[in-house]
Amino acid sequence: MAFARLSAILALALAATNVQAAATTAKKVTCPTGQQTANAACCALFPVVDLIQTQLFDGAECGEEAHSALRLSFHDAIGFSIHGGKGGGADGSILAFADQETIFHANGGIDEITDGQTPIWQQTNLTAGDFVHLAAAVGTANCPGAPRLEFKFGRPAPKAPAPDKTIPEPTDSVSSILARFADAGFSPAEAVALLASHTVAAADVVDPNIPGTPFDSTPFTFDSQIFLEVLLKGRLFPGKNNASAPGEVLSPLAGEMRLQSDFAISQDPRTACFWQAMVDDQLLMMAAFKASMAKLQVLGQDTSKLVDCSDVVPVPKPFTQQIKYPATFSKKDVQIACPILPFPNLATVAGPAPTVPPVPGS
Ligand code: HEM
Ligand SMILES: *[C@@H]1O[C@H](CO)[C@@H](O)[C@H](O)[C@H]1NC(C)=O
Ligand SMILES: *[C@@H]1O[C@H](CO)[C@@H](O)[C@H](O)[C@H]1NC(C)=O
Repeated sequence: MAFARLSAILALALAATNVQAAATTAKKVTCPTGQQTANAACCALFPVVDLIQTQLFDGAECGEEAHSALRLSFHDAIGFSIHGGKGGGADGSILAFADQETIFHANGGIDEITDGQTPIWQQTNLTAGDFVHLAAAVGTANCPGAPRLEFKFGRPAPKAPAPDKTIPEPTDSVSSILARFADAGFSPAEAVALLASHTVAAADVVDPNIPGTPFDSTPFTFDSQIFLEVLLKGRLFPGKNNASAPGEVLSPLAGEMRLQSDFAISQDPRTACFWQAMVDDQLLMMAAFKASMAKLQVLGQDTSKLVDCSDVVPVPKPFTQQIKYPATFSKKDVQIACPILPFPNLATVAGPAPTVPPVPGS
């Protein structure tokens, strides 16, 4: 068991180097707009990327809309089963059939981003699937430290809305979450890798009294802080007068929310080592997230018919520092659930324990 886990972690680390080497030196075409790409069919996307950055992401910010665009790509794609009968996957049905999919309980708050994307999508000639998954790749690229996600172009229009009950909820057990991911084709390691997304995330509807409550202290940076902070001993709820809501558990910091599902996954023997391995391993996290997102964003698609337009995705700024414990915290506060891996030595931010400010709405 221990060896199986470690070798899976190692395989992810090796994938990191392969991903970088795959950025080949293939011949490029120069588009009418001046940018270069490996395939002329991708030229049509550069103006769309500019449109998305200006109109949706307030000028290339890693703000609420970028965060929500990433969440939207997950909620769209996960409506899929490798056994069939659960929707078209990464087909943009969540945007094209927003009136039906946004009513699902797990899609609480999603209408804000579908409402935001629809008028911009309609200015383009892209299918809903291409638009949703391009917007997610571009939004993620606005967050320093993120990997440059792939983008495959040419999804057909979605045929129907995805059925309800395909999207995991924070109140779900680890077994049911892992079963849902497995049904969509993802291993426990891949599920944990996808949860790196919660490093650029905040909740609006878990506790509707405190919209924009972040999951870690650095919601504008794609660092591994989420993987550290979810392991810290919980002390309070961010709600008014320490009030809690279903789906959250005690968080270590004022103003921060911890999802019950993130905490359970960090502690479960099936996933704890994958979780802990991400702490302060920026390159492992980037590579694992990139690989799992590449899979997620083409779920249900015939990839032989898609064109690789990854080079239209902006190159994210790097994050090269070591992460730190929030002020007043140290190793003694870590709830270690993976005894077979060493825990990294990290410095602590100086000063009193912080109150994490909310992520501003649009
Ligand atoms: C175990 C599976 C997951 C559960 C239970 C879960 C649950 C949640 C919940 C409850 C929220 C807050 C929603 C709100 O109140 O506004 C949220 C936010 C978010 N989730 Fe997840 N999530 C999961 C997996 C994922 C995955 C796989 C991704 C992407 C790859 C993702 C990306 C995000 C992002 C980016 C946000 C922040 C949205 C924003 O700030 O506007 N989540 N998630
Ligand atoms: C959309 O396609 C039409 C017809 O092919 C074309 O005239 C128009 O310029 C395209 N619009 C964009 C934004 O690419
Ligand atoms: C908040 O409430 C929880 C129980 O619901 C309790 O364990 C914790 O000590 C409280 N924290 C504060 C700071 O009041």
